[in-house]
Amino acid sequence: MLIQQTSTSLIETLRLRRQKLANLINFPAILWSGSNSPRNFLANTFPFRASSHFLYFAGLPLSKAAIRLEAGKLELFMDDPSPSSALWHGEMPTREEIAQNIGADVARPMAELESWLEDAATLAVQDAATWTQQSQLLNRWVLPQSPPQGIDLELAKAIVSLRLTHDEAALTQLRKAAAVTVEAHKAGMAATPKAKLEAEVRAAMEGVIIAHNMTTSYTSIVTVHGEVLHNEQYHHPLQPGDLLLADVGAETEMGWAADVTRTWPVSGKFSSTQRDIYNVVLAAHDTCIAKIHPGAEYGDIHLLAATVIAEGLVELGILQGNPQDLVEMDAHALFFPHGIGHLLGLDVHDMEDLGDLAGYEEGRERSDRFGLGYLRLNRPLRPGMLVTIEPGFYQVPAILNDANVRSTYQNVVNWQRLSEFADVRGIRIEDDVLVTAKGSEVLTAALPNDADTIENLVSC
Ligand code: GLY
Ligand code: MN
Ligand code: MN
Repeated sequence: MLIQQTSTSLIETLRLRRQKLANLINFPAILWSGSNSPRNFLANTFPFRASSHFLYFAGLPLSKAAIRLEAGKLELFMDDPSPSSALWHGEMPTREEIAQNIGADVARPMAELESWLEDAATLAVQDAATWTQQSQLLNRWVLPQSPPQGIDLELAKAIVSLRLTHDEAALTQLRKAAAVTVEAHKAGMAATPKAKLEAEVRAAMEGVIIAHNMTTSYTSIVTVHGEVLHNEQYHHPLQPGDLLLADVGAETEMGWAADVTRTWPVSGKFSSTQRDIYNVVLAAHDTCIAKIHPGAEYGDIHLLAATVIAEGLVELGILQGNPQDLVEMDAHALFFPHGIGHLLGLDVHDMEDLGDLAGYEEGRERSDRFGLGYLRLNRPLRPGMLVTIEPGFYQVPAILNDANVRSTYQNVVNWQRLSEFADVRGIRIEDDVLVTAKGSEVLTAALPNDADTIENLVSC
């Protein structure tokens, strides 16, 4: 458990957040923090991460706690540390001290929670021990993988409406996560010339994050096989002709995330084919970021990325045809199969524990089109939203070797020409972009992304 003083201004922010929630719902909400999941015995646990909805209103990553929010009031439910805990964990703050720290109005032992459940809404926490407890206490299923219903759905919608845009306290945290992530990527580039394995570059990057007393906001991807979209293996040797794709983000102690990808040549020099494709992806990245402003439809930004990629691939002779027509037939998705990005906040893919409730404007649903099905955000943008922009190019064997895909797209892909780009398995360029009143601000802009500067950062 974190022992730290919460600043007066953060307590004020927490108060404001719960007052805003009170303006949206007229029933109590109980949010559980979650608990440490044991690995092999109770005291050896997986790293603990408090539920993001809890963190948003409580501000501290407490374990085995719950908060009850009603009419702007905060009641904290948690047990005092057990007498033996000081032996193993040192002196821990009492419930009353923690309550003061987060500006709670009342603090009670966990056992009293069952007297305060009436008419209360909740949201499922991911760990099984906690969602089982939620279900038992509330006498209804509260399941992490099922969409919330009834008052739980009302609560979810209210929280989404608050967490969609970030207040100043959140932005301070998000900027810290972004700054450390930039430093981590620079360290990864600098470590590459001497590294023999992907694992060594990962260690250099995560070392920076750990040294800032932060954690990663998702499992790092550091791989020469960038065509495996969520590759979580680090054993491959680094060969001079490889591109290394690093998707690594920091998370602050309070749980706020960054999500950044860079792709660099292991040798410090892009081959001409790698540079050509890199510049197509970068053009999509820059064009999309230039279009981010309040009112812009994120779905249109995705289609813009698809169009720029299709144009670039036509110019390189990999695709043939009119770029707009190619996008309409999803030919771009052969090489760019995922969405242009997602919401970012207390989580990478912020609030995706609620399915598409946060990502999709009410009344909109996911498309089943190959080129649109993985679009995670489909809303008009508003000031205060933080989104990622992450176009990519991948040669995924499961897509490109599929017989149906081959026959559907046989006339629009120049397979012979494509084979000349065999040294480009996966490229992604990802930045974190805040929507502002006037347009946008790239929180991760301090990390260069043009090919020449990337080469210099790797080589120096
Ligand atoms: N790091 C996961 C993603 O970019 O969505
Ligand atoms: Mn992302
Ligand atoms: Mn990412």
